[in-house]
Amino acid sequence: MDAIVWKSHQLDLLDQRQLPFSTTYLTCTTADSVAQAIRDMVVRGAPAIGVSAMYGLVLAIQNDPSRSSFERACQVLAAARPTAVNLFDAIQHMTSALQDWDWSQNPSERAEAIARAYHQDDLHKNYALAKWGAGFLPGIRRVLTHCNTGSLATSGFGTALGIVRQLHREKRLDQVFADETRPYLQGARLTQWECQQEKIPCTLVTDGMGGYLMSEGMVDCVIVGADRIAANGDTANKVGTFMLAMAANYHGIPFIVAAPSTTLDRATPSGAGIPIEQRPSSEITSVFGHPIVPADSAVFNPAFDITPGELVTAIVTEDGVFQPPYAFGK
Ligand code: MRU
Repeated sequence: MDAIVWKSHQLDLLDQRQLPFSTTYLTCTTADSVAQAIRDMVVRGAPAIGVSAMYGLVLAIQNDPSRSSFERACQVLAAARPTAVNLFDAIQHMTSALQDWDWSQNPSERAEAIARAYHQDDLHKNYALAKWGAGFLPGIRRVLTHCNTGSLATSGFGTALGIVRQLHREKRLDQVFADETRPYLQGARLTQWECQQEKIPCTLVTDGMGGYLMSEGMVDCVIVGADRIAANGDTANKVGTFMLAMAANYHGIPFIVAAPSTTLDRATPSGAGIPIEQRPSSEITSVFGHPIVPADSAVFNPAFDITPGELVTAIVTEDGVFQPPYAFGK
């Protein structure tokens, strides 16, 4: 099931807030509504956010083919979520492609072609990186993963979950363990659902169980995605990733980051320069609208953490497998 469906003058987004209980699409016809959908987690996952933003820019141009409308849409979309660098890569990509455009001519068709190509390209990047990743992991049969990095988070196939899919296709996967991923439950709701669709053996665990699984010899490797990778390999990903990396390091288990090159932030030297999104406290204090903590509880809800590059065994992109010391800078 496609998470992002472009239909010439509208963008249909599979509403991931409703999964796994219902598969409904939310239709966006303006850049503002796409930005809102990104902010509200209708669509999430760094590559899927970037592709959706691309189509948001196309909608802005279709609705008002002027440079000022386009520039306003760039600003609105850029403000949707701060950490996933794919959002900014997409906006930059469209801006560069239209840089020399004569705005007295309507650029709608050109913008649509650029967005479609970007969408397709992300899919191809996923297939390529999945093959690189599977090839780098001989003998790996039991994988622990975090958050959702599959078709729902990308243009299809996935990044970390793409490698898992590839291992499964090659009949080299015994089990993937999916962290439930508090507070938004991307692992419990989305990864488990995606794996069930393809009959990939997936066992759900809570976020605190990774160290125990490793100590019991139940996982061979940890594979996660990324929202932004700094030039030195420091990686921002769903909060909880850093703890998994430390546990993997302690147990001598490979810790792999899988992402398309659009997730590399070559201009940011280290993780210290990566903005971390703070999400509403209600995501922690309630589950599906039901309060689960005493009223007025103090809450801290960073959506991501930074894993130092030195803890990352390998970073897999569509261009191949990179190992420390990382130097992605320009
Ligand atoms: O808050 P989310 O659900 O957008 O966070 C998603 C993640 O952290 C993913 O691991 C990351 O974006 C990679 S998706 C291929």
